[in-house]
Amino acid sequence: LRVVHVAAEMAPIAKEGGLGDVVTALGRAVQEEGHEVEIVLPKYDCINYDLDLKLVKEFWYNGVEIKVWKGIVEDLHTTFLEPCNGMFWVGRIYTEMNADRHRFGVWCEAALEYLRHHAEKRIPDILHAHDWQSAPCTWLDCGTARTAFTIHNLNYGADLIERAMGATAVATTVSPTYAQEVSGHPAVAPNHAKFHGIRNGIDPEIWDPAEDEFLPRSYSADTFTEGKAAAKAELRAKMNLCEADVPLVGVVTRLTHQKGVHLIKHAAWRTLERGGQFVLLGSAPDARVQAEFNALAADLARQYPDRARLWFAYNEPLSHLIYAGADMLLVPSMFEPCGLTQMIAMRYGTIPVVRKTGGLNDTVFDVDHDVERAAAAGMAVNGFSFEGTDGPGIDYALNRALTAWYSERAWWQEMTERVMRMDWSWAKPALEYIELYYKALRR
Ligand code: ADP
Ligand code: GLC
Repeated sequence: LRVVHVAAEMAPIAKEGGLGDVVTALGRAVQEEGHEVEIVLPKYDCINYDLDLKLVKEFWYNGVEIKVWKGIVEDLHTTFLEPCNGMFWVGRIYTEMNADRHRFGVWCEAALEYLRHHAEKRIPDILHAHDWQSAPCTWLDCGTARTAFTIHNLNYGADLIERAMGATAVATTVSPTYAQEVSGHPAVAPNHAKFHGIRNGIDPEIWDPAEDEFLPRSYSADTFTEGKAAAKAELRAKMNLCEADVPLVGVVTRLTHQKGVHLIKHAAWRTLERGGQFVLLGSAPDARVQAEFNALAADLARQYPDRARLWFAYNEPLSHLIYAGADMLLVPSMFEPCGLTQMIAMRYGTIPVVRKTGGLNDTVFDVDHDVERAAAAGMAVNGFSFEGTDGPGIDYALNRALTAWYSERAWWQEMTERVMRMDWSWAKPALEYIELYYKALRR
C-alpha cells in the first residue's frame, strides 16, 4: 500500500503532544510491514531544519505559490509544504483557533493539490488524516485515494471532526475505552459502524532506556537498578533537590484542564507531606493556568525548598530524564483519549499512577483491583489508579503507591522489572490499522 499521512505534527521535529509521536511511530511501524509511507507536514518556521531538506518543486494553487520540500525524518519520507504567503511563518505550530482553522484549511487544499498533480509518486491508496487540522482532507477531492481519519482529541475542532467522520471511509480513535466514552457524541454516534478504537503504542526505538542519549547511564530490564539510580541522581541535581532515600513523583504534561491540573496541584502537596519529592515538567498554553502554577511553585519553594521543582517549558531531554529518574509518574487526567506518558514511563521502569479514563484505563491495571481484568487482556497488573475527580480520589491511588514504595521495596523492584518488559510497541496496533486500510479499499 501507499499510505500518506497528512498531519500537523511529527515527532521529534514538530511536536506539541502525542499526535506528533503517533504520526511518526505509526508511520514507521506500517513502513516496517512493507508498505510505502509518506508524511506531509506544513513547513513551519519554528522547527529546526538540520535535516538536509531539498526544494523539489514549486506550484501555484488558488493564487498562492506552494514550495515543496523533501527530507527524511526518523526514516520516513517527509514532504514539507510551504505556502509562500507567510502562513506558517509565525514561530509556533498553533496560534489562535480561528486563524489556525484558516491556515490548516489552506494547507490541506495544497496537500491534496500536491498529491493529485505534483507528487512524483502515484496517488496514495490511503490518505490518513488526523484531528481537526487535517480533517478537510477527508471531504476534499482526494483523487482515487480512500481516506482514514483518526480522532486524537474530540475536544478541539469538534465540528470539523464531525464532518470528517461523515466523509471518511474508515474512522478510528486512539483507545477502545475512549471510543466507548465518546460513542454518544454527535460526531461519532451516526458513524459507529465504521468507527474503531485502536490503542496507541510508543516507538520502542525512540523511547529506549538502553539507547537514550539524554540519560547518564543506559539500562534495561535486566540492569535497571544502577541506571535508574543514576538518572534519579542527575534529575535531583538538575532540579536542586536533595539526596535522600525517598520516592520521587514525576509529571510530564501540557498543563490544561484535560490533564487534571487541580489534581496535579493536590498531589504535589500530598507527596511532600508524605516525605516524597515532586518534579513537574509542563507548559501551560493558558496564562491563567500558568499563573496558578507560578503561585504553586512559589509556595512549594518556600515550604519545601529542596524537595519540589516545577519546570515550565517544553523540554525533550528533561522529559527523558524524568521518565527514567522518577519512581512514579502521575497522570490524573479528566479525560485521556490514549495518553502516551504512562506507557513511556513503564518503558523506563517508572510506575504509573493514573485516573481511570480513556486509554489510561486500557494500559494501566491497578495492582489491587485489576488482577482479573489484566489477565483477561493478557496483561499483568502494572500501576495504581483511581476514579474520582477530587483530592480524596487521587489520594487513594497516590497513598497506596507511596506506601508500597516505602514498605515493599522488593515488590517495587519486581514491578519495575515487570513494567519494563511489557510490550507497548506499535507492532500489533499497526496491523489493526493496516487491516482497516484494506477494508477502506474494499468499500
Ligand atoms: P497529549 O497529546 O494530550 O499532550 P500524550 O500523553 O498523548 O498527551 O502525549 C504527550 C507527549 O508530549 C509525550 O511524548 C510527552 O513526553 C510529551 N510532552 C508533554 N509535555 C511535555 C513537556 N513539557 N516537555 C517535553 N515533552 C512533553
Ligand atoms: C491527543 C490526546 C492523547 C493521545 C494523543 C495521541 O493529544 O490528548 O490522549 O495520546 O492525542 O493520540
